[in-house]
Order: sequence, then structure tokens, then C-alpha cells
Amino acid sequence: MPNRRPTFFSFSVSFCFIVFSNVALVASKSTIEPCSNSDSCNALLGYTLYTDLKVAEVASLFQVDPIAVLTANAVDISYPDVENHILPSRLFLKIPIQCSCVDGIRKSVSTKYKTRPQDTLSSIADSIYAGLVSADQIREANSIADPSVLDVGENLVVPLPCTCFNGTDNGLPAIYLSYVVKPVDTLAGIAASYSTTITDLMDVNAMGTTSIKDGDIIAVPLSACASNFPKYASDYGLIVPNGSYAITASHCVQCSCGPGSRNLYCMPSSLAVSCSSMQCKGSNLKLGNVTVQQSSAGCNVTSCAYGGYANGTIINSFSSSLQPRCPAGPQQFPILIAPPTYVPDSAFAPAPSPHSDGSTTTTVPKTSKVPSTGSLPGFGPAGAPLGSMSDASTLVNSVSTLPAALLTCLLIKLISPVSL
Ligand SMILES: *[C@@H]1O[C@H](CO)[C@@H](O)[C@H](O)[C@H]1NC(C)=O
Ligand SMILES: *[C@@H]1O[C@H](CO)[C@@H](O)[C@H](O)[C@H]1NC(C)=O
Ligand SMILES: *[C@@H]1O[C@H](CO)[C@@H](O)[C@H](O)[C@H]1NC(C)=O
Ligand SMILES: *[C@@H]1O[C@H](CO)[C@@H](O)[C@H](O)[C@H]1NC(C)=O
Ligand SMILES: *[C@@H]1O[C@H](CO)[C@@H](O)[C@H](O)[C@H]1NC(C)=O
Repeated sequence: MPNRRPTFFSFSVSFCFIVFSNVALVASKSTIEPCSNSDSCNALLGYTLYTDLKVAEVASLFQVDPIAVLTANAVDISYPDVENHILPSRLFLKIPIQCSCVDGIRKSVSTKYKTRPQDTLSSIADSIYAGLVSADQIREANSIADPSVLDVGENLVVPLPCTCFNGTDNGLPAIYLSYVVKPVDTLAGIAASYSTTITDLMDVNAMGTTSIKDGDIIAVPLSACASNFPKYASDYGLIVPNGSYAITASHCVQCSCGPGSRNLYCMPSSLAVSCSSMQCKGSNLKLGNVTVQQSSAGCNVTSCAYGGYANGTIINSFSSSLQPRCPAGPQQFPILIAPPTYVPDSAFAPAPSPHSDGSTTTTVPKTSKVPSTGSLPGFGPAGAPLGSMSDASTLVNSVSTLPAALLTCLLIKLISPVSL
């Protein structure tokens, strides 16, 4: 069944006018998902570093946990002092964020930026936040009357794009990456980089054509493993992209996804120090342990699985079931990479993806010995996600003279036959 969403990714860039003699307003498109309730979801931002930054500095730009930034990018966190590791300029990272519903649309508004000398709204938007937000959006979100006077030390809200689409794509668990289109990108290239299809990207973003342009923000569905923790758990809704992992339960538990299975697999984390019991009641199995026993009736699979974190307590569930066949082989873990020290040669290639790059050192998680294939109670594949979208505009300060601005507008008019 085709998965249709009532969304619009409109590409008519004919709306163009001159604000000042040297500034032209050119529309960039971004996918907008309407929403009505107060729930939120896990989402990812595709972020390109504007300078060398420590892991902790990147995390503080978005006010997220440094460990979460590393695990979302399949970086091995067992390296010493990994939070102070310096990441190279132009490195592409996935930043995990919480996507909420604000004024009827999905966005993240928990990020604040403290202005420094020399900052302008454009430098904050285009450079520091790498095009994930526009100068205009920051101006609006903070009701700035005169963008030319920014006080140093001001705390600005930085609204960031995200989508949830019910945590599914074509009925399978998915987490959405907000991806800022680069000049070299093609839709086919992005689809290939993220193991999806052009059709699916067009469907998700409700695009009429395959054309994308520099600065557009599209939602890219990443295949993921979903959790089914109870609503009262603090990590309710945890969803982990294929090929990566997440640390939860106050750094006590790590949950990974892939490569071979869509089941979220959780076990005690390598960071676990003072954690509540990770042993299932009435058994000698610990979180993540699975035992199998072949009998004439079938395969008796017993497991101790993680069930969420509530009130400072790890919920675990012990289950035993008779399955027709024993799970094949041991639990497989995503391949982890060493903390990146250079930007792989894909710097100018479309849609770089850290852990798909063969030139990066790979390491195996140190805790890779687990009995058998872990199998969590099923999370039923869901129906079609719902969503819709429109466009946002970016203030582009690239045209320096009035004639040039006029020419740009004229060109845009000629190029795009469809008007807004
Ligand atoms: C997860 O990613 C690996 C490659 O990174 C791929 O081989 C596998 O099919 C993916 N699994 C799912 C469920 O998408
Ligand atoms: C349970 O898992 C732990 C690692 O979390 C491992 O050290 C232990 O040997 C496992 N026990 C059984 C009975 O499989
Ligand atoms: C499966 O094995 C466990 C112990 O390993 C046992 O308690 C349980 O009764 C067995 N279940 C079945 C259906 O044989
Ligand atoms: C959490 O703990 C508080 C007090 O310690 C208690 O009042 C509350 O009911 C607990 N909530 C849950 C979901 O267990
Ligand atoms: C959203 O997902 C849930 C399970 O994840 C499913 O039960 C529900 O039907 C889905 N809703 C829509 C509108 O797709």
C-alpha cells in the first residue's frame, strides 16, 4: 500500500524581492510536519562542523548529552577522555534531538545560543548552525527588531527543524534526519547514502519533482529499531537508527540497532558504575542475556530484556517462550568507529555518512560477547505516518549590488515556471 502523506514540498522559487539594496530574499524549502498534541519524538539533525570543536562543545551548541552525539554517530565511547576529543572542521555529524510540537508544527525549540562578539544573525544561522536555521527564523523566534544590533551574551532561541511522522516509514520503524542540501547533492545521492529510495524521499517530503537546491532542508527517513517502553518511562519512545546505539537509564544501559535485525538490543553499558540491579527477578540472567534450549517441542528461548527507565529504576522483563527454531548465531552489533580525527575524502561528496565510510578506522565494541540473538517483545509495525509541510524562507545575503539582485530575481523567475 503506498504511503501517502498530505504534505507539500513546493519548489517554486519565484517569490523573490529586495529588502535592502544588497539583500535578496530567496525561498529555501523545508519539510514541515503539522502536529496537534504535546508528544515528542527522537529526531536527528544533519550538522556540518564550521570549525574544529570538541565533542562537548558540539553537544553544548545543541544542549544535548556529548555521549548521545557520539553514540548516534556509532563512535566508540570507550576511548579515554572521549568528550574532549577534537572533531575536525567540516565533519558531518548526526545530532540527536527531541522533536516537539510547537504552535502546530514539529520543531525543536530547546536550543539556545549565547551570542559572542562578531556574531551576526547570518553567521549564527549559516555558519555556526550550518544552515539548519535561517537568520530570519532566529530573528522571528526572538522578536529581534533590529538584527544589526546584537548584544553580546544574549541568549537566543534557535528553532531547529525536525519531523516525527509517527516514528514510521512505510509501516516500519524510522527516525527522521533533517538534512541540509549542499550544492553537490542530488536526490539520488542522498537516497543512496541513507539506504532509501528517491520515491520514498519524494513521498516523505511531498515533492513534485526530484530537484533540490542548496539550503533546502529535507526529511530523510532512517531505518531504526523502536522500543516499547511504558509511557511513564523517562526514555519512552526511544528509537535507535540502524547501525548505531544509544545510552539510556542514566548511562547504565546501552541499546543498539542492527545490522541484521530490527529488534532493539539492550544490555548493561560500558559506562555503568552505580546502577540499580540489572538482574531479572527470579532468575540469574542479567539484562541482555538470552539462553536457548533445544528440545523436541522446539526452542525454549529465555531472555532478560530492558523495559525502560522509570523513577531511577531499571525496568526489566524476564520472559521465556517456545519458538519453532532457535535464533541463528550470536547477537550482532553495529560496527563502531574511532573518534574521527579527519574529514573522510567524502568531504565534497553528497550526503556523507560517518559510519559508511570505509577509510575510517573501525573498532568493535568491547562488550561484544553475548550469548545469542536477543529478541525483545515485538513492537508491531505501524500504519502510515501522517504529516504535511510547507516552506520556509532564508535571508540570503549573497547578492551585493542592486543590479545583481534584480538579475537574480529575473533568473529565478525564468527558471521556475510555477509561482507560489
Ligand atoms: C542496517 O544497515 C546495514 C548496513 O549498514 C544493512 O545491511 C541492513 O540491511 C540494515 N538493516 C535494516 C533493518 O535496515
Ligand atoms: C549475561 O550477560 C553478561 C554481560 O552483560 C555476561 O557477562 C554474562 O556472562 C551473561 N550471562 C549468561 C548466563 O549468559
Ligand atoms: C524454558 O526454560 C526455562 C528455564 O531455562 C524454564 O523455566 C521454562 O519452564 C522453560 N519453558 C518451556 C516452555 O519449556
Ligand atoms: C516514583 O517515585 C515517587 C516517590 O519516590 C512515587 O511517588 C511515584 O509514584 C513513583 N512513580 C512511579 C511511576 O513508580
Ligand atoms: C502510529 O504508530 C503506532 C505504533 O507505532 C500505530 O499503532 C499507529 O497506528 C500509527 N498511526 C498512524 C496514523 O499511522
